[in-house]
Amino acid sequence: MLLVTGCGGAFGRVAVPGGAHGDLLPEGAPEATDPIPGAGLYGFARSAAIEYPGAEIRAVDIDPKDRPERIAAHLIAELCSPDEPVAVGYTNGTRNVPRTVPVPLPGGGRPPLPLSRDSVVLLTGGARGITARSALALADATGCHIELIGRTPPPDEVEDPALAHALDRVALRAALVHQGLRTPADIEAAASRVLAAREVRATLEALRRVAASVRYHAADVTDPKAVYAVVADVRARHGRLDGIVHGAGTIEDRLLCDKDPVSFARVFGTKVDGARHLADAAADHGDAPAPEFLVLFGSVAGVFGNRGQADYAAANDALDTLATTPAWSRRFPGRVLAVDWGPWAAEAGGMVTPELERMYANRGVPLIDPDGGTDAFLAELAHGTTGQVVLLAEQPGNGFGGRP
Ligand SMILES: NC(=O)c1ccc[n+]([C@@H]2O[C@H](COP(=O)([O-])OP(=O)(O)OC[C@H]3O[C@@H](n4cnc5c(N)ncnc54)[C@H](OP(=O)(O)O)[C@@H]3O)[C@@H](O)[C@H]2O)c1
Repeated sequence: MLLVTGCGGAFGRVAVPGGAHGDLLPEGAPEATDPIPGAGLYGFARSAAIEYPGAEIRAVDIDPKDRPERIAAHLIAELCSPDEPVAVGYTNGTRNVPRTVPVPLPGGGRPPLPLSRDSVVLLTGGARGITARSALALADATGCHIELIGRTPPPDEVEDPALAHALDRVALRAALVHQGLRTPADIEAAASRVLAAREVRATLEALRRVAASVRYHAADVTDPKAVYAVVADVRARHGRLDGIVHGAGTIEDRLLCDKDPVSFARVFGTKVDGARHLADAAADHGDAPAPEFLVLFGSVAGVFGNRGQADYAAANDALDTLATTPAWSRRFPGRVLAVDWGPWAAEAGGMVTPELERMYANRGVPLIDPDGGTDAFLAELAHGTTGQVVLLAEQPGNGFGGRP
C-alpha cells in the first residue's frame, strides 16, 4: 500500500530555528497548502503496517512541484526497500525521516506560566480523565478561571441516594438492577452515566477550591455551533480567553479489517474537527486579546502507530500536523502545541484502565505518574517553543520528553 501526500516532502513542517525540525525542511522549501491533504495518513499507515507485518506499507510525502520522473523514482524506491520507516518524505532529492529527539525538561520547581489569576482557560474533555488533572494543575499553579467542555450532562449537586452507596461499576450494576433495569445494555449505559456524572462532579468540586471560578458546558466538540457558542459565552462573561486545551478524545479500538467507517469518523472527528472548530472560534476574537496558546492532547499512537488504533493514530497524527504546519496553525493567533502523551497510570482516571495497565506492565512499558505528567505539561507550557512534543514516562536513557 502506497499513500502519497503532497505537503512539500517534510510533512508540511517548516524549519524551526534551533529546533529539532530544522533538518526537515530547508529554508525556502514550499509550504503546504490549507487544508493539508491527507492529514493523519502517516499515523494511519504506521498502524496499518503493524497490523499487516507482511505487507509493504509506505506513506510518502513529496513536493508536487518536483519533476514527475523523480517523484516516480522515489515512490518505486520506497516500495522496493523493506524494513524502512513507514513515513518518509522527499525534498529536492533529499530523503526526510521524522525522528524523536530526547530532550530533558528544565528542572527546579514550578515554572512561570503565561497565565495569571485573571486568565481564563478553556479545556475540552477537562471534566474527566487526564485533562481534568491538567485543569486542576493549571488552576492550582495560577488560580485562573477554568471553563470545561464535555458531553456528559451537568450533574446534580447531590447524587441519587439510592446509588450513592454503590462505589464501583460492579456495585452500581447491582443497584441498577434493584431499581428495575433489566437488559445488560441498559444497565451498562446507566452505570456509565452515573460514573461519568460522579467524575464531573468531583472535578468541579476540586476545581472550586483552587480556581478563581469554574464553569462546565455540556457540549459536543464535533458540533461547530456548540463550540462557537461556548467560546462566545466565555468571552461575553470574562472579556477574554487566554488559553485552550483540547483534551476531548475517544477510542473505539478495532483491527482495520473490522473497522466501521462511522466509528472511524467519530474517533477522528472528535480530535480533528474539534481542534478545527476551536481554532476557528478562538481566532474570531474581535477586540478581545488573542489567546496565548492552543494545546492539543495527542498520543504516541500517532507517532509510532498502534495495533487496533488506525483511526486514533490517524487523528493524533493529524493533530501533530495541525500544530506544526503553518498553514493550519496560522488560524490560531497564539502558540499551537501538540502534546503526544505516552500512557498514563490508571489512577489518573483516563483511557488506561487497570486491565490495560496490567498489559503495559507485562510488556515493560512504563506509565506516566499523574503528578509527573501534569508537572511535565506545565513545564512544557512555560518553557517549550516547538509545535510538537512527545511526553513519555521516564525510562533509563530516554529522559521524559522528546521532540519529533
Ligand atoms: N490517558 C492516557 O494514557 C492518554 C495517553 C495518550 C493520549 N491521551 C489523550 O488525552 C486526552 C484525554 O484522555 P483521557 O485518558 O483522559 O480520556 P477520557 O478519560 O476518556 O477522557 C476523554 C474526555 O473527552 C471528553 N469527550 C469525548 N468526546 C467528546 C466530544 N465529542 N465532545 C466533548 N467532549 C468529549 C469526555 O467527556 P464526555 O464523555 O463527558 O464527553 C472526557 O472528558 C485524549 O485526547 C487522549 O487521546 C491520553
